[in-house]
Amino acid sequence: MFEPVQSQQTFRRIAVRPLTGALGAEIRDVDLAWPLDEDTEREIFAAFRDYLVVYFPDQPISHEAHLTLARRFGPVITLPQIFSVPECPDLQMIRREADAKGRVVGETWHTDSTFLERPPYCVVMRALEVPPSGGDTAFSNLYLAYEALSPKMKELLSGLRGVHTAARLFGSQQPANPNRSFKFPEINASEGDKEITHPVVCTHPVSGRKFIYVNNVFVHRFDGMTEEESAPLLQYLFAHCAKVDFTCRVRWHKDQLLIWDNRATYHRAIADYDGCARHVVRATVEGPRPS
Ligand code: SIN
Repeated sequence: MFEPVQSQQTFRRIAVRPLTGALGAEIRDVDLAWPLDEDTEREIFAAFRDYLVVYFPDQPISHEAHLTLARRFGPVITLPQIFSVPECPDLQMIRREADAKGRVVGETWHTDSTFLERPPYCVVMRALEVPPSGGDTAFSNLYLAYEALSPKMKELLSGLRGVHTAARLFGSQQPANPNRSFKFPEINASEGDKEITHPVVCTHPVSGRKFIYVNNVFVHRFDGMTEEESAPLLQYLFAHCAKVDFTCRVRWHKDQLLIWDNRATYHRAIADYDGCARHVVRATVEGPRPS
């Protein structure tokens, strides 16, 4: 049991409505089409720090305004596996047509691209087309997941590093029927097989709070241990981090813009809209090396 997440910030410029006791908040009374004044920006940063996932309904902004907002959070990078928006290559897109078959991008709980040395700090995503129902994104608060562990488990994890790799996504272990919403064929498999280690418990660069930093898509084992030896504890952590108590689920609407903290959260695209199209564009903001 934990108290509902509550920001200590007083919001005067924006209206903030928390979504669940665990994380997530809707923000209104702001127009993202224009550069933000200092006070509004400070309040948005505070809401983002405290709620980890913030979304702004009804923001029909240009790609340039989208990028300008994202750059206030840090340098925008492009991920190797996602297609760029043709007219604005710094923005990338996840597009699923109504007749698409097979897996939906991001349908397993994960944190984005932790196989990178400096994985994304946050993602700024806007919906261009949404199904009439379904296609939500679920998020989980990894501070709460860490804080719920016993002292002995925290001590055990503090000495471990996770081995992160994109091998199953676009390396030599990718499935026989890869997801065609990704641009796998253009990527060299040896890129996907690269390994990088990050601590299993990291400290957030902004809040200073500890969170669990392993995920089912990219972490194959603990450093210095075999996959077989690592599996029981990793499987426990993956399931623990996705407990419903730590989560929220965001319903998308056209022109809704959402920013998620890609360090202290998991997310998962819900694959429940077969036969309908869904199209989102996203800017990925680089973060420091996790420590
Ligand atoms: C992702 O996993 O990066 C995409 C999430 C979504 O499309 O909702």
